[in-house]
Amino acid sequence: MTSTSPTALPPAVMRLRELALSAACAAAVRAAASLGVADALGDEPADAGTLAKAVRADADALERLLRALAAYDVFSELPDGRFEHTDASRLLREDAPRGLRYSALWATEPWTWALWPHLADAVRTGREEFTALYGTEFFDWLHTAEARESAEVFDKAMTQSSVLSAKAIAEVLDLDGVGAMVDIAGGQGMVLATLLEKYPALRGTLFDLPKVVADADPRLREGGALAGRAQLVGGDCRQSVPEGADLYLLKNILEWDDESTVRTLRNVAKSAPAGARVVVVENLVDGSPETRFTTAMDLMLLLNVGGKKHTKAGLSALVEQAGLQLEEVRAVNSYLHMFVSTVPA
Ligand SMILES: C[S@@+](CC[C@H](N)C(=O)[O-])C[C@H]1O[C@@H](n2cnc3c(N)ncnc32)[C@H](O)[C@@H]1O
Repeated sequence: MTSTSPTALPPAVMRLRELALSAACAAAVRAAASLGVADALGDEPADAGTLAKAVRADADALERLLRALAAYDVFSELPDGRFEHTDASRLLREDAPRGLRYSALWATEPWTWALWPHLADAVRTGREEFTALYGTEFFDWLHTAEARESAEVFDKAMTQSSVLSAKAIAEVLDLDGVGAMVDIAGGQGMVLATLLEKYPALRGTLFDLPKVVADADPRLREGGALAGRAQLVGGDCRQSVPEGADLYLLKNILEWDDESTVRTLRNVAKSAPAGARVVVVENLVDGSPETRFTTAMDLMLLLNVGGKKHTKAGLSALVEQAGLQLEEVRAVNSYLHMFVSTVPA
């Protein structure tokens, strides 16, 4: 007797079905991060019932959540039905040294779910959709009382992702001979603090929106170990930036509309002395091993701020349009590039 083996679906069918439902995947990551499942699971495997008690969830529903995540190697299910950590699930722990809990929450905040259905409209017009939905521009909204929790998640997510990149930037950016630098839109100051720690003679200004610098890295604030060499300045870099530094760093800020990018770079060119270095650090959509992540972020930026992740040629052109002299573009690590330019005489 011959038995017919079930016919597997063609890979293209499986792929598209999975893709169309991939919001469930993002939602599952968010649910695990919100519930704190990764923190509840230690080094020993545990069953869903035990974990459910720890995070105050329904045991059956939690098991289904963990199984869905295990399909993507976030947690792993053992033959006896218990779950254990994987490298990816450990990153969701609050205490993970290079954790991504807040980055995961940020990428799945409620406003993102409100925006995604409008992607076709944004693609039609080439413009952001946030203002029409929320009545105000994204970053203005983020600093309203209504968005307080989202703003906290954002600042922590930026700091978390900066932990990943600050060390790499400190390794490739040679600041010997630089007296003063400004980190434009430097978030809570993780990168600046790392650079100040590496260069004991360096003075640095953290420039960001007032509410963000008010909550700067404790090392930079009054009483902090680096406070004597750090200045915290709140403002809008599209209006003006601090004057007179030898080096200006702009990391992951020139991701809005091109006009704001050129205006910000022109403000730097106006405020910096001739010969000052201007260093722009960005993830590019071309030449990156993280194409899926960067292109997805590119679409998110289109929706929320009418912005983009750049190509190497596109960002080079904007740097030059702002009147800066582009000297070199080099890799910082596998996912970040550094555009080094100087302010002409
Ligand atoms: C994607 S985060 C990057 C933060 C930091 N450079 C890093 O890489 O971690 C963008 C930052 O730009 C700041 N920002 C947004 N609009 C700004 C503006 N008009 N002027 C100054 N900072 C601004 C935000 O508050 C946020 O800290």
